[in-house]
Amino acid sequence: MTHPRENDRDDLDREVCLCFHVTLRKLKQHLRVAKPQFASQLSECFGAGTGCGWCRPFLRKLHEAGSAPPASPILPDAASYQSARGEYLARTAQNRVDADSGSGRQPSADDADAGSAQ
Ligand code: FES
Repeated sequence: MTHPRENDRDDLDREVCLCFHVTLRKLKQHLRVAKPQFASQLSECFGAGTGCGWCRPFLRKLHEAGSAPPASPILPDAASYQSARGEYLARTAQNRVDADSGSGRQPSADDADAGSAQ
C-alpha cells in the first residue's frame, strides 16, 4: 500500500498535455504564479493544449478549479486517458479526411469530453 502523499505526487507528475509532456505539477504551478485569466492562457505553460487539442477540456477544468482542490478528479486514470486520446486522434483524422472530401463535420469539445467520461 502506498502512502497517500505518494499518490498525490504521482498525480502531480502525470502528463495532462501528452503532446508537450506538460505535467499537472507544471500546470498547477503556472496557475499559482501566473494566475491566468482565461484557460487558453495555460498554453503559455510549455505549450499545453496547442498540439492535437485533446487535453483542452481538462485544461479548462483545471483552470476552473484554480488553486482549490477539485470536487472530482480532473483526469481519468492514465491508461484510459491515453487510450481515449488515441480514439480522439483517430476521429479527428477521419474528420479531416471527411472534410477534405466534403462529407465531414468540425471536431468539437464534445469529442474530447466523450473520451474523458471513460
Ligand atoms: S494532448 Fe495536449 S495538445 Fe495534444
